[in-house]
Amino acid sequence: MKTAILNFSKQLAYQPVIEQKKNLNKKKQFIVLGMGGSHLAADLLQEVAPNLPLTIHSDYGLPAVSTTTLRDSLIIASSYSGNTEEVIDGFHEARKKKAALAVIAVGGKLIELAKKHRVPYIELPNTGIQPRSALGFSLVALLAFTGQTAIQKELKIVSQKLKPAAFKLAGKKVARFLQNRIPVIYTAEQYKSIAYNWKIKLNENTKIPAFYNCVPELNHNEMNGFDIVESTRHLSSSMSFVFLVDRTDLSKNKKRLQILKTLYEARGLPVLQVELNGKSVLEKALRSLLVADWASVYLADYYGIDPEPVPLVEEFKRLVG
Ligand code: F6R
Repeated sequence: MKTAILNFSKQLAYQPVIEQKKNLNKKKQFIVLGMGGSHLAADLLQEVAPNLPLTIHSDYGLPAVSTTTLRDSLIIASSYSGNTEEVIDGFHEARKKKAALAVIAVGGKLIELAKKHRVPYIELPNTGIQPRSALGFSLVALLAFTGQTAIQKELKIVSQKLKPAAFKLAGKKVARFLQNRIPVIYTAEQYKSIAYNWKIKLNENTKIPAFYNCVPELNHNEMNGFDIVESTRHLSSSMSFVFLVDRTDLSKNKKRLQILKTLYEARGLPVLQVELNGKSVLEKALRSLLVADWASVYLADYYGIDPEPVPLVEEFKRLVG
C-alpha cells in the first residue's frame, strides 16, 4: 500500500488507449456505473467539473432517467476488477436498452463482454494495486471518454509537482490525532467527494469505522446529535473530528466550519483542522487524498493491520455472488 501511494503521481501520466474506438458513440452526457473504489474518479470529476452532465449510479441496473437522457448519454461501466456484479448487471441492461456503452476495467468479465459485443473499452494497467488505490488510472481513463481537455492538461501539470512522500508528515499528524478514536470527517458540500474518500480510506485501509458529512446540511441535523449531556457523553466519547478546511474559500461554509469547531470543542469533542491546499479543486483534492492515504496506513500500522487486503469485502462478494 505504501508503494502504491508513493507511485500515485505515475498513475496520472498513464496514457489510456480506447480499444474498439470506431464503435465509440460520442455523447455530451455521461452515466458512470461503478461501486466502491470504481466510482471515486467520477465523484472527483463531478467536483472538478461541476458543469459536466455526469450521473453516478452505484446499484444494479441503470439509473431512472428519461429515455431522452438515456439516448443522449454514454454509459461508462467502470469496475477495476471487471467482475463487480452490480456493474455487469448495468452493462447488460444498457445493451438491452441499446444505449451507448463503454467499459473501464483491468480485465475480468467486463473486458470479455466488451470484446464480445464490440463495446469500446479501456483496459487499465494491472499493477496489482487495490481498486481504491487506482484513482489516478481511473481518472485518466474516465477523462479519455468524457474528453475534458482542460482538465486533462491540468492533471498533467499537477502530476508533475505532486510528490506523495511530501505528505507523510501531515498524514502522521492526523494518524496520531485519530489513535483510539472513531474518525468523523467534515467538509463543505463542494468537497464532499474528498471527505467521502477520506472515510473510505480509513474504512478499507485502516479497517475501522469512519464517517463523513458536509456543511451546511449537517448543521441542520447531525450536529445536534453531538449536543452532549452527561447521560449521552459515553456515546460520542470515542469520536474525533477532522475538518477539511479551505482557507481561500470565500463561502459561508468556511464560517460554518469555524463556528462548529468552537461549539464541538466546548462540548469536549476533539477537532483537527486539515487544510486543503492547491491552486484548483483538482490539486486540493489530490493533495488532501495523499494526506488521507498516509494517515490511514500509519493508523493501520498503529493497530497492527495490513492496509492492503479487504477480506470482509471479498468474503461478502463470495457469499452474495
Ligand atoms: C477495494 C475497493 C472496493 C472495490 C469495490 C468494487 O480496494 O476499493 O471498494 O472497488 O468492491 O470492486 P471493483 O472496483 O473491482 O469493481
